[in-house]
Amino acid sequence: MSIKQKWLITGICGFIGCNLVRSLVQDPDLSIIGLDNLSVGNTDELSKLCTLREWTPDMPPLAQGEVALMIGDITDPAAVAQAVDGVDVVVHLAADSGVMTSLAAPLANFHSNVLGTLTVLDAIRSHPKTSFIMASTGAALGQQVPPVHEQQVARPISPYGAGKLAAEAYCFGYAGSYGLRTCILRFSNVYGPHSSQKTSVVAKFIRQMLAGETISIFGDGKQTRDFIYIEDLVEAIRIAVQTKQSGEVFHIANHKETTIDEVVTELTQLLSPHGIQPKVEYANSRAGEIVRNYVSIDKAKRVLGWSPRHTFAEGLEKTVAWFLAERKA
Ligand SMILES: NC(=O)c1ccc[n+]([C@@H]2O[C@H](COP(=O)([O-])OP(=O)(O)OC[C@H]3O[C@@H](n4cnc5c(N)ncnc54)[C@H](O)[C@@H]3O)[C@@H](O)[C@H]2O)c1
Repeated sequence: MSIKQKWLITGICGFIGCNLVRSLVQDPDLSIIGLDNLSVGNTDELSKLCTLREWTPDMPPLAQGEVALMIGDITDPAAVAQAVDGVDVVVHLAADSGVMTSLAAPLANFHSNVLGTLTVLDAIRSHPKTSFIMASTGAALGQQVPPVHEQQVARPISPYGAGKLAAEAYCFGYAGSYGLRTCILRFSNVYGPHSSQKTSVVAKFIRQMLAGETISIFGDGKQTRDFIYIEDLVEAIRIAVQTKQSGEVFHIANHKETTIDEVVTELTQLLSPHGIQPKVEYANSRAGEIVRNYVSIDKAKRVLGWSPRHTFAEGLEKTVAWFLAERKA
């Protein structure tokens, strides 16, 4: 019988966690345990994608299609110590993942995103064979002249970006001091299926259009983002797990600048055949938000051999199809 590689996914019940499980769960060579405090995510979405087993210390080996879920907090050293026991790979997704929530409660954001990351890293301090993949964000760099790249000096403009940068620093520090294999992936704006609980722009606009609500665009609609489709991002995580690189940071994006107005135009084209037209209002721009963003992915292409496979139009079509199917279900 082959020995399975054991993965811990923190924040498994969130948007990216669910999509990662979807891509991994039928792999017979993997055993997956999730750790989530259910502060944002819930088990509804995840249980559509796998058979969930409540984690116990003496649980029998998981069958194909099963995932063990430990409900716990990444800032709890005892829970984390149990969760990392015997794992080969940690994909660290758990976080307070919003710029706006970090502006409203910066200390709570620090607690989850900095102390929580440090708690997980420290639990694997004496396991140098364990790979640690850290979900970071372009927000760690702050306002930069695009295309954003890994050599730029980080100047975050939100508590969220600052906390992620601090967490990145601990990944470098633990790689340097304890020989941990850490790899930081800075995601741009992620969109795709299983995002019904997200407040990020694509998910929110689709939800609002389907509900016949008015879309609020903060600013003049000319601000830009670099949107990465979830399946491409999941592939980047899978490649990062296999890489021998350590103490490195990679930007994971589409290398394409898209205005918020263009998002609405593309969504209108996809939804108008279903009798849906957007109602749009423009409001004041919000503090802590970056005006212009697109990202160089040269390093991820060169070192990891990763490239996105979906254009924004292709990814958006799949995303809208998922939301429409969910509406019917
Ligand atoms: N979605 C994006 O566009 C995007 C962009 C850049 C970076 N990221 C990063 O990727 C990661 C995953 O993003 P997502 O969109 O899936 O986020 P999400 O908010 O959908 O999911 C986060 C999950 O973590 C859990 N969680 C939060 N705090 C926790 C804690 N203290 N202990 C245990 N569990 C906790 C939540 O319950 C939730 O299930 C985050 O670290 C986020 O900062 C996301």
